[in-house]
Amino acid sequence: MLKLVHIAGARPNFVKIASLLKACQQESGIESVLVHTGQHYSHSMSQSFFEELDIPQPDINLEVGSGSHAYQTAEIMKRLEPVLLEQKPDAVLVVGDVNSTAASVLVAAKLGIRTIHVEAGLRSFDRTMPEEINRIVTDSISDLLFVTEPSGAENLRREGVADAKVFFVGNVMIDTLERNKEKAAASDILRTLNLKPQTYALVTLHRPHNVDQADILQNIVDALAQIQTDMKIIFPIHPRTKKSLADHGICQQLEALPNMNLLEPLGYLDFLKLMSHARIVLTDSGGIQEETTILGVPCLTLRDNTERPITISQGTNRLVGLQTTDILTGYQEALSMSPDGRRPDLWDGKAAERIVKILLEVL
Ligand code: UD1
Repeated sequence: MLKLVHIAGARPNFVKIASLLKACQQESGIESVLVHTGQHYSHSMSQSFFEELDIPQPDINLEVGSGSHAYQTAEIMKRLEPVLLEQKPDAVLVVGDVNSTAASVLVAAKLGIRTIHVEAGLRSFDRTMPEEINRIVTDSISDLLFVTEPSGAENLRREGVADAKVFFVGNVMIDTLERNKEKAAASDILRTLNLKPQTYALVTLHRPHNVDQADILQNIVDALAQIQTDMKIIFPIHPRTKKSLADHGICQQLEALPNMNLLEPLGYLDFLKLMSHARIVLTDSGGIQEETTILGVPCLTLRDNTERPITISQGTNRLVGLQTTDILTGYQEALSMSPDGRRPDLWDGKAAERIVKILLEVL
């Protein structure tokens, strides 16, 4: 019996482990223990994903909560170490690039427990992003690295990782999307918000670089103010962004816009339905660049770089940066063309199955 401890801490982690845990449950040779670090804890950022995606309740919750990067990383490490000593797993499996990912892999590697990173090798080449630091640290000490796109394998090879440790398996976030498409279609969020398909823009923002600095946040809000004169905007606001809008006094300007619908963070199914029928999506999320690629919905990424280049070369994504005029130009260009994307290789809903098969062979 192969005993795995799965770690999840933040919203995008839950979407990824949903598929991995399902695939593990279907294998009698694997015992799974789920540890929630508690990095995200609000109902809308955590429990709602467990309920909607049918994720088993965590066996252990470290309840670390929010804090600075050092605080959060250190607390996860301190609280995870005794858990791993007690559980004695054969391997620890982490996903994505959040603080919970890097902290957990550090603890496991130092205890001599094998480490598995799902969604390895992605690089923005921008070390001002906390996620880029997490990706580099995690990959450099992981024993098995599962990549979503060919760039991931190329980056790892360039960094000197042995090919034998790297497996191109596809994208577990897309597994979850495929499994939940029909359920999401039944969501009545369009009716609730009085929206017709293809008539609105969907916006998400949460990167510290974009939302913590007043001038950049203002650039984005100025672009949104223009866009909402053209079409309705639906904007579920991440708690970090909400706080920053309030701190910088930009909240009232946003609230006063007549065609702007500001919402609390949404659950997975409502968000998937909104994304599927949006005319366009504007975001700084990594996962949403991938999901819009599969849904064939134009996506403007409000960043100067992406660690997911396949969403541009094969998908519907375009980088527009953070200047108001560049965002507006990207918006006009995206609307004037029909989205021209194709499904990246192995983004077929079966990535988790491939991962489990490989784990049973090599561990
Ligand atoms: C984290 C990840 C980011 C990921 C994002 C998804 C890191 C470094 N960042 O960013 O990669 O894309 O999650 O959402 O790991 N808060 C709540 N409720 C919660 C969680 C957070 O209100 O359940 C508030 C707190 O004020 C907190 C702030 O949001 O200080 C930011 O949370 P944090 O987990 O530090 O980072 P995120 O911006 O969510």
